[in-house]
Amino acid sequence: MNNFSEYWNYRLPKNADINNYDFWLKDKCEYGKNIKQALDLGCGNGDDTKFLIKNGYAVVSVDFSDYAIKKVSKVNQGSTFYFDMSDLPSWKVFPSGFFDIVVADLSLHYFDEKTTISIMKQINRILKDGGKLFARVNTINETEAGAGDGEEIEPNFYKNPLRGINKRFFSEEDVHKYFSLVGTVAFKEISIIRNGKPKPCFEIVCTKQTEQSMEK
Ligand SMILES: C[S@@+](CC[C@H](N)C(=O)[O-])C[C@H]1O[C@@H](n2cnc3c(N)ncnc32)[C@H](O)[C@@H]1O
Repeated sequence: MNNFSEYWNYRLPKNADINNYDFWLKDKCEYGKNIKQALDLGCGNGDDTKFLIKNGYAVVSVDFSDYAIKKVSKVNQGSTFYFDMSDLPSWKVFPSGFFDIVVADLSLHYFDEKTTISIMKQINRILKDGGKLFARVNTINETEAGAGDGEEIEPNFYKNPLRGINKRFFSEEDVHKYFSLVGTVAFKEISIIRNGKPKPCFEIVCTKQTEQSMEK
């Protein structure tokens, strides 16, 4: 537990009442008889986890909020656990080349450059060849969520005194810089509804290429 996870213990129950799931993975997932392995990174209230389970995936759901773990354990018992993405040695828990898909819905924009790079390399390591990362992240156009507010600790990475957490706001350049460490990058800027308000974000699909295994 740290200040950042405390924030999410407070925030997630509020979001649960407001957010309607938008089924963004519907046209991205594969459907069929073969069970596929999925990892939901920063599972929050568990909407993506529930969607994936319903559609035949075996899901591992992780978060560093105790609230999230308790809630998602109810729908994904035995495969939901505490995991702090910024604690790099703990990624060892995931075997290399194991997951068909990794989902990170608004959960990869909280880390400094060094940590983000390490996380991307870990996602690359744990994906199967041809496996995919589906992610959504903040963009530099997101003034509502604090782009440009507070102290800029690194380019496009802010310490927001009001919200108490650090947030990265990705430019297109940043998307290429970080996500190409996972695989071939395709992305678009879209607007979604979060916490009852429109929110610009990048929706990103990375496909791990065979020659791109870069065990670190
Ligand atoms: C904006 S919420 C998104 C939750 C969920 N993926 C969704 O889309 O509804 C961000 C989530 O990332 C989690 N998170 C943030 N930093 C994390 C970290 N270092 N390790 C694990 N989870 C983290 C938070 O606890 C929270 O559940």
